[in-house]
Amino acid sequence: MSNGIKIVTIGGGSSYTPELVEGFIKRYDSLPIRELWLVDIPEGQEKLEIVGNLAKRMVKKAGLPIEVHLTLDRREALKDADFVTTQFRVGLLAARAKDERIPLKYNVIGQETNGPGGLFKGLRTIPVILDIVKDMEELCPNAWLINFTNPAGMVTEAVLRHSNWRKIVGLCNVPISIQMSVAKLLEVEPERVHVDFAGLNHMVYGLHVYLDGKDVTKEVLDEMTSGKHASATMRNIAAIDWDPDFIKALGAIPCGYHRYYYKQAQMLEHEHEEAAEQGTRAEVVQKLEKELFELYKDENLDIKPPQLEKRGGAYYSDAACSLIDSMYNDKRDIQPVNTINNGAIASIPDESAVEISSVITKDGPKPISIGDLPVPVRGLVQQIKSFERVAAEAAVTGDYDKALLALTINPLLPSDKVAKEILNEMLEAHKEHLPQFFKENKVLS
Ligand code: G6P
Repeated sequence: MSNGIKIVTIGGGSSYTPELVEGFIKRYDSLPIRELWLVDIPEGQEKLEIVGNLAKRMVKKAGLPIEVHLTLDRREALKDADFVTTQFRVGLLAARAKDERIPLKYNVIGQETNGPGGLFKGLRTIPVILDIVKDMEELCPNAWLINFTNPAGMVTEAVLRHSNWRKIVGLCNVPISIQMSVAKLLEVEPERVHVDFAGLNHMVYGLHVYLDGKDVTKEVLDEMTSGKHASATMRNIAAIDWDPDFIKALGAIPCGYHRYYYKQAQMLEHEHEEAAEQGTRAEVVQKLEKELFELYKDENLDIKPPQLEKRGGAYYSDAACSLIDSMYNDKRDIQPVNTINNGAIASIPDESAVEISSVITKDGPKPISIGDLPVPVRGLVQQIKSFERVAAEAAVTGDYDKALLALTINPLLPSDKVAKEILNEMLEAHKEHLPQFFKENKVLS
């Protein structure tokens, strides 16, 4: 690292890459990047070139000596990396569209990271991330893996449980988005707001809120439920209003994804309507991506275009770049990340991944112990953790029964029968990306 930092981004052809590049450019003084390697697979080559050339123009405009390399050779890129970020999507958006459409046929939530969609995204992704980790052990054993690939919690869990690699941090923009919306409610600068986060990825709660160090949790919950503010959530989740009495009774800020659990029927109805009118989220995003890549092709474009804000990943670059900045500079500030629990949440196993406010050091995040989760949310969090663990085992082994078990214990499934029907249809639909389930002529039950 003495000559500057080497960053490798796997899934570099993603439309989100300009976010990351913008974040690195902004922080160049504290995070002097020498090389940024954007890696993709042959199917992603065209996108990699388009977005890579935009990245080069952005760096040039900023007048910075960052070399941007584009490659399809992951191993060449990984050699001596300092930080590896992962943001790939196995099977691309077409696979996500299946994850969303198929469950809906059975009147079950169809979502990228929850329920059957979350399981299948995990089954496709985990073997790939474990391969990346193997390459890292050999080619850049001192690097940190910063994973944004969804389902980020399950992926972090899989690396912690099914490899020897410990230098992984899972990252998500949900907590930072909550912090931003709280700041908006309070009409203050986001830097003055601190939220204690705990839970799992896409299952995280803001347990306490502080303004300039003073506990304002109750005031924030009152304001949230006052009827004065439009419901806030990520661009990919319908902002259906919470019941104000429920939120006050809960005493904590739920994340947008909790709507799939606490408002399941309404969310399902909404998904059916959207799917019929404009398509599922993946189908909408496919169109958005086309527009974005048309913009990225413009040789006069040398900034992140504002249209990228229509994606769910707002603040993603801020979260990613400030994490890397804090690790590199041993800043010891507090950021919410997915990391090994180590006793921070008593009712979750020590060796499991949790999403929690942590002190960010050069040796990785140190989760801040909360004692335990409040009783009303503890059970759901534990149930999702069980789902993630069984799903990760299914992904690693290709064991049909484990996959069935994972899906059936997921709280979004109504029965073992429906779980099995969905599982069978989705295994067939995703066959080409699930070789572990189709070895030795394994037959579906
Ligand atoms: C949110 C989530 C991310 C997810 C994204 C999807 O930001 O935190 O994990 O990837 O939404 O956004 P999209 O625009 O692809 O629907």
